Amino acid sequence: AERGNGNVKRQLAEVFERSLRATVPSEVDVEPIITVGTGNFGDYQCNNAMGVFSKIKGKNAEFKNPRSVGEAIIKNLPESELVESCSVAGPGFVNIVLSKTWLAKSIQNMLAEGIETWAPKLPIKRAVVDFSSPNIAKEMHVGHLRSTIIGDTLARMLEFSGVEVLRRNHVGDWGTQFGMLIEFLFEQFPQWENETELPIKDLEGFYKQSKKRFDDDAEFKQRAQKAVVSLQGGDSKYREAWSKICEISRREFQKVYVRLGVQLEEKGESFYNPYIPKVLDILRSKNLIEPSEGAQVIFIEGKQIPLIVVKSDGGFNYASTDLTALWYRLNEEKAEWIIYVTDVGQREHFEMFFHAAKLAGWLPSDKYPKVNHVGFGLVLGEDGKRFRTRSSEVVRLVDLLDEAKSRSKDALIERGKATEWSEEQLLQTAEAVGYGAVKYADLKNNRLTNYTFNFDQMLNDKGNTAVYLLYAHARICSIIRKSGKDIEELKKIGEVVLDHSDERALGLHLLHFSEIVEEACSNLLPNVLCEYLYNLSEFFTKFYSNCQVVGSPEETSRLLLCEATAVVMRTCFKLLGITPVYQI
Ligand code: ARG
Repeated sequence: AERGNGNVKRQLAEVFERSLRATVPSEVDVEPIITVGTGNFGDYQCNNAMGVFSKIKGKNAEFKNPRSVGEAIIKNLPESELVESCSVAGPGFVNIVLSKTWLAKSIQNMLAEGIETWAPKLPIKRAVVDFSSPNIAKEMHVGHLRSTIIGDTLARMLEFSGVEVLRRNHVGDWGTQFGMLIEFLFEQFPQWENETELPIKDLEGFYKQSKKRFDDDAEFKQRAQKAVVSLQGGDSKYREAWSKICEISRREFQKVYVRLGVQLEEKGESFYNPYIPKVLDILRSKNLIEPSEGAQVIFIEGKQIPLIVVKSDGGFNYASTDLTALWYRLNEEKAEWIIYVTDVGQREHFEMFFHAAKLAGWLPSDKYPKVNHVGFGLVLGEDGKRFRTRSSEVVRLVDLLDEAKSRSKDALIERGKATEWSEEQLLQTAEAVGYGAVKYADLKNNRLTNYTFNFDQMLNDKGNTAVYLLYAHARICSIIRKSGKDIEELKKIGEVVLDHSDERALGLHLLHFSEIVEEACSNLLPNVLCEYLYNLSEFFTKFYSNCQVVGSPEETSRLLLCEATAVVMRTCFKLLGITPVYQI
């Protein structure tokens, strides 16, 4: 199926482009401006008349005001099956009413050919989404949960839009902390070399102990600092210890990814380390690197502090690694869009090294290749402060997921599902609902705002929650099932009709899907898709309460509308990384 043809705005733009060409003298340059209609006058609007008028004022006697331009735009519209009627409003807005026959036919085509026909098409082949990216030996915390959830959704939207996505886990696996971890390992587990899996259950605790040892004992500290040198110099014993420590963290991270259904490929900081000298040479050859107070830095216009790329001890850092990773992604991996998902606290770091990359000529235009930092706010607790456990520890991700699941299970048991369903169905649904709730609660807010973590709110079956939406979807599936009709058969022979105003409103909202995904994807804002999904369920509810489906003369068409709604809802779930539920 061909992508990129479902976008209504773009289809209208093609029609209005022709009308504008006929209306406006050829030397005046105009691009159709089409927006979704506001108020009750039209489904869409063409807003060119005002701009066009100010450009041709005085040159063309035919036009006395913007309204007359609007009227001419309507008069010059070519024959089109999309448009039912147009009218001029206010100073010259052209309100567009779409043909309901066309709306109905578009829905029918989507059902026959698949939702991919409504997928956007982006003008790039390959992107990198750098997300999740926890640090070795430190627990994954809610900040990494946000990065994981948001990054996964962005990757899914890009993939849906036909882009090959390199999902990169840029784990912090290369820093001075490894010196003390390794020395501590040697002390605590002299037998470490014989173990295929180190018997360390709590790596974070191990980290804390080694840190204490480092701070308390000068001799240990010295050994740890030497260990860093040995490790970075490639000493095989140290490499081996390092890799075993990383493996413990990796296993823990993987558990979370499996539960969340998130795919990621690890290319940690260490991966880029061997390339750093070469990349710094490239930057040096462009005279970008200067010595400053013993370090080597890149000065960035407008910034007080320069970007340090070689520390005064000669070591590399977060910035040199990121510059090198960017170079690698652009040149070796040929990625055209590189997206980094971290908390907003790191904004400055990204701004700085993006700027350095521009100075180096790596990002020559405003289009592609391009880089974006996708920042997000904090997760807050009920007290409005950073989300912590009661003993004010960092909240462990696995505990959160466990609780979401067990609470969802309890709610299902309360609905009598324990007797109705098998244990397996109960658990699967509890997971889908519980994890879905955690993801949706995060994604529905504009990512830049802080949000308050609240189980009761996110697991509420009313309001804008995953639970409500998953149940709404399950109910639609049950309407179709209980009708006793073969929906696949209806898709082939049935016809969609949108005569009732609530049918039409639902149909129009379905048609917005394509442009919404495109907007969410281009602006890197998953909340736009959540809002669309929630509104879809509202339009459906209105339709379902005012239009009898089963047993009505319009049954076939209305079942198809139910199916189209279910298909679009499921696609939204898929893009948001939420597993749909079919029975409730
Ligand atoms: N490991 C970092 C952290 O936990 C995030 C890395 C983000 N990616 C990057 N290329 N800098 O804060």
